[in-house]
Amino acid sequence: MHLARTGVFLWAVRSARLLALPVQRISLIDSKRWLSHTPRCLSSPFAAFPEQSAQQGSKVDPKKTEKTSASDHGNGSIPESQFQRSLASAPQNKIIHDTTGSGSGANILGQPFVFDDVSNVTDSILGLVGRNLYDTPNHPLHITRKLIESVFQYPLYKNHIASNPVVTTKDNFDVLGFPKDHPGRSRTDTYYVDSQTVLRTHTSAHQHAAFQYMSQNPEKGYTICADVYRRDSIDRSHFPVFHQMEGARMWQQYRMKTTKGGTRLMGQEERKAQIKEDLDNLPEHSLEIIDEGGHHNYKTNPVQISHDEKESELVVQHLKRSLELLVQRVFTAAQEAMPGTKQEQLKVRWVEAYFPFTSPSFELEVFWQGEWLELLGCGVTKQEILNNAGLNDRIGWAWGIGVERLAMLLFEIPDIRLFWSQDERFLSQFKEGQITRFKPFSKYPPCYKDVSFWVRPSPDGASPIGAESSSGVAAAAGGDSTKASPAETQPAAFHENDIMEVVRNVAGTLVEDVKLVDEFVSPKTSKKSLCYRINYRSNERTLTNEEVNSLHDQVLQQLTKLPIEIR
Ligand code: PHE
Repeated sequence: MHLARTGVFLWAVRSARLLALPVQRISLIDSKRWLSHTPRCLSSPFAAFPEQSAQQGSKVDPKKTEKTSASDHGNGSIPESQFQRSLASAPQNKIIHDTTGSGSGANILGQPFVFDDVSNVTDSILGLVGRNLYDTPNHPLHITRKLIESVFQYPLYKNHIASNPVVTTKDNFDVLGFPKDHPGRSRTDTYYVDSQTVLRTHTSAHQHAAFQYMSQNPEKGYTICADVYRRDSIDRSHFPVFHQMEGARMWQQYRMKTTKGGTRLMGQEERKAQIKEDLDNLPEHSLEIIDEGGHHNYKTNPVQISHDEKESELVVQHLKRSLELLVQRVFTAAQEAMPGTKQEQLKVRWVEAYFPFTSPSFELEVFWQGEWLELLGCGVTKQEILNNAGLNDRIGWAWGIGVERLAMLLFEIPDIRLFWSQDERFLSQFKEGQITRFKPFSKYPPCYKDVSFWVRPSPDGASPIGAESSSGVAAAAGGDSTKASPAETQPAAFHENDIMEVVRNVAGTLVEDVKLVDEFVSPKTSKKSLCYRINYRSNERTLTNEEVNSLHDQVLQQLTKLPIEIR
């Protein structure tokens, strides 16, 4: 499975001193009762980070759009303000074309956006915005979210949700330290609303806001659950929208008044002692742990310069133990849901990783039904990020997990498209607070269609074959550096994800997977020929021949817009 789909790798708190030590009170034994640990009213309301939403509200920048329209159309005469006004009252999540035909935009969850030449969102992706599956009771994604929140629960952790996926490139990438050429920024991997606005590619896009919130509130940590968006391949474990949860935990130094009337940070030793005490108070677990990185590689995965080595190591130990407890809680619940199956000893392993916003960084893998599966990414939060949010006196950890990945394992759901199903035969199977094995209601016949085309020889020489990354690291927050075309934000000559996008746009959830089945280079012309097999199959009904033929004709028609030559 593609790493970017643990959602990680796959490709966005309160007063005074925290007295309680709620994590220590988590009962691991009584995993059936986890739901009662997380009263619904304790979640934050929909607009988790109002200051971020407010920024989005003023996203339409007349100066910028004037410039874009002038350069696009040579006369700058598009009635921008009128178009913006019409967008504000237009139907939500649909692309609208200016009546003069010279511009386009969309009203996304009530906010108007005028597109520019970087925009690449489509009607099909916008149609999925706002479903809030993670906040729909009895939905497996909601059940999984609640299970995770039960391990990282209020009042130690503030459990946020963030319903608006439109964020700035600054929040999604810049403040997190993504280099300018990081593949995650590529237009081929990320949905741009306009050149400065994206559909978030990860929940870390809200890290800055969550840390700012923390600087004003007493909670020592947070979780955030949200839908995230990545242009990607099509198969049973990839969907362009999926869900992530992120968590963080901080420890604080305290301020002392100086004789001169100012304040001084004190107590790094005390902070260290507190981390150690909290670590010692975490419950024991019975997982088998493989941790070759017990002594990690300080060259490639360093302790941050501004950190005390021992303190950083304590934070790492607390992070690892907290996540091991999460695994134990979640997978014990799953084992209990499957009586009769052999209860294997749960095993996890820690692997070194890289994320621009943590150091040192790690991935956690779990051995489940005979395979090692990447589950999450995590690390010690970069101090600059904390400082920028007013948390200069803190140190702590963060993690990110793909919710579908976990839910597919827990409920034995074989196809990621099912999460979007509105079919009662799917929805009626799940109940709050319970993990139950999914019973497939039917398997409808597939219908394969091939499409072959020539592409110009790529200067990158990259092949879509082998695009699966063998490490989640490069693809943090999106961007698969092994795929054709590098991290440009301008359209590439050819990128596999563009085919995926065309197929998604035409066939939506009626396509199960799209696979490259043949590739060769003509010795005469040195042009490359690629053949993709599109597998049309509904989870809910048998597709008729006419229907599939019509879908495939539309796909072929749309493909003519790409820089390829259909054979
Ligand atoms: N946001 C990261 C991703 O999507 C996951 C992550 C979160 C890693 C927090 C470390 C800390 O890949």
